[in-house]
Amino acid sequence: MSVKPLRIGVAGLGTVGSGVLRLLAQNANLIETRCGRALKVVAVSARDKSKKRKVDTGDAVWVDDPVSLAGHPDIDVVAELMGGAEGAARKLAEAALGAGRPVVTANKALIAAHGMALAGIAERAKTVFAYEAAVAGGIPIIKTVREALAANRVTEIHGILNGTCNYILTQMRLRRVSFEQVLEEAQARGYAEADPAADVDGHDSAHKLGILSCIAFGTELRMAHIVTEGIRHVTLADIGYADELGYRIKLLGVARMTGDGIEQRVGPCMVPLGKPLAGIEDVLNGIQLHGDYAGKMMLVGAGAGAEATASAVVADLIDLAAARTALPLGRPVGTLEKPQPMGAEKSRGCFYIRLTVKDKPGVVADIAAILRDHAVSMESMVQHGSPSGDAVPIAIATHETTLAEMQTAMAGIAALPIVLEPPCVMRIEQG
Ligand code: NAP
Ligand code: HSE
Repeated sequence: MSVKPLRIGVAGLGTVGSGVLRLLAQNANLIETRCGRALKVVAVSARDKSKKRKVDTGDAVWVDDPVSLAGHPDIDVVAELMGGAEGAARKLAEAALGAGRPVVTANKALIAAHGMALAGIAERAKTVFAYEAAVAGGIPIIKTVREALAANRVTEIHGILNGTCNYILTQMRLRRVSFEQVLEEAQARGYAEADPAADVDGHDSAHKLGILSCIAFGTELRMAHIVTEGIRHVTLADIGYADELGYRIKLLGVARMTGDGIEQRVGPCMVPLGKPLAGIEDVLNGIQLHGDYAGKMMLVGAGAGAEATASAVVADLIDLAAARTALPLGRPVGTLEKPQPMGAEKSRGCFYIRLTVKDKPGVVADIAAILRDHAVSMESMVQHGSPSGDAVPIAIATHETTLAEMQTAMAGIAALPIVLEPPCVMRIEQG
């Protein structure tokens, strides 16, 4: 007796939706052999029916309202590939899961905002809510943390979690071109979110870090606890100083579970050359984890783009077809613990500081005095002459201190009359 195909309703035919349809068509035989069932797209939906698509939708029926896929009689699973934390994406996921219909999504904004509620609905309806593609594109990080490392206490995550930002920072360094120019290229390649502010302001990385922390630490998904900073203020001058001081600038998501609470932050960091995360370039993502029994490990791969993301979406569909299931957040939602955020006085690290100062005697002494008063020790300093002769940039790398001391010292330095622009401060992160 032949097994019935898994019938899929796809909402969203953009970069990811088109990639999923292409992959399902191209690797149909391989997929059917691996999961013992054909995967067939029977319905599709997007905003604009008349738009010319980059992919052939075959004999799939067009559905005007994507939310109606939740109750469509001819489908077994909904692939939500529209994006957005609210609107059609949220309504579709809630309605489908509530009706006991599995949902596969790539939508990290939705999960970051409503993941616990959606996982709760899925648990109660005893259905599947899968989202491998939502974190780090083609890297199987959800499965790795939730299933392969299920026996471990994961204590640390360091990740390059946004392909667009990594692409921008890499290309700015290699070609010394502007932030705006490289952002346009990332958009043309299909890496960026519909609103690229989500990428460059760090929110997309924060969504992914929040999801990973939740499943790795078994703590509630609370976005408000993640201190988030983007890469708009990173200049070619910072990139030059990074080269000179022996670092690469990376937008890192860092989450650590410590005896003093949970530390979760996203921001541009100086990573020493030679450290594995420093070598991860362009659209690649990389995630370094520490499990108490598995030890330290790193996963690297394409973090964005149609093909890599489709690979993760279809892997979830294959799991469903093969009846391999897992609780969405790795444990019942009701057992997640309340995270206690770590205070700035406990958070420790080394820092990079870039200042623009008046070029006159005593300036460095004034800055050094404030750092001394807060017990911040300098590791190195670079100053070059300035072409104008009035304003001169200075770059400083510090030894380890607390974030609280650093913040107070920087408030004092920023207030000095010889400091001409708001200082730029970044963590130096070993990974
Ligand atoms: P996209 O290229 O902008 O495509 C979005 C698709 O959804 C379009 O087909 C659009 O319809 C449709 N859509 C949007 N709002 C809709 C609505 N209210 N009703 C009906 N259809 C709607 O976006 P994408 O890059 O494919 O991203 C899709 C999802 O995957 C997002 O959650 C994103 O965060 C996630 N993701 C993207 C990547 C990536 O590399 N791009 C990687 C991982 C995860 P029209 O075409 O008619 O406008
Ligand atoms: N915009 C995201 C990125 C897509 O650049 O990483 C993958 O989540």
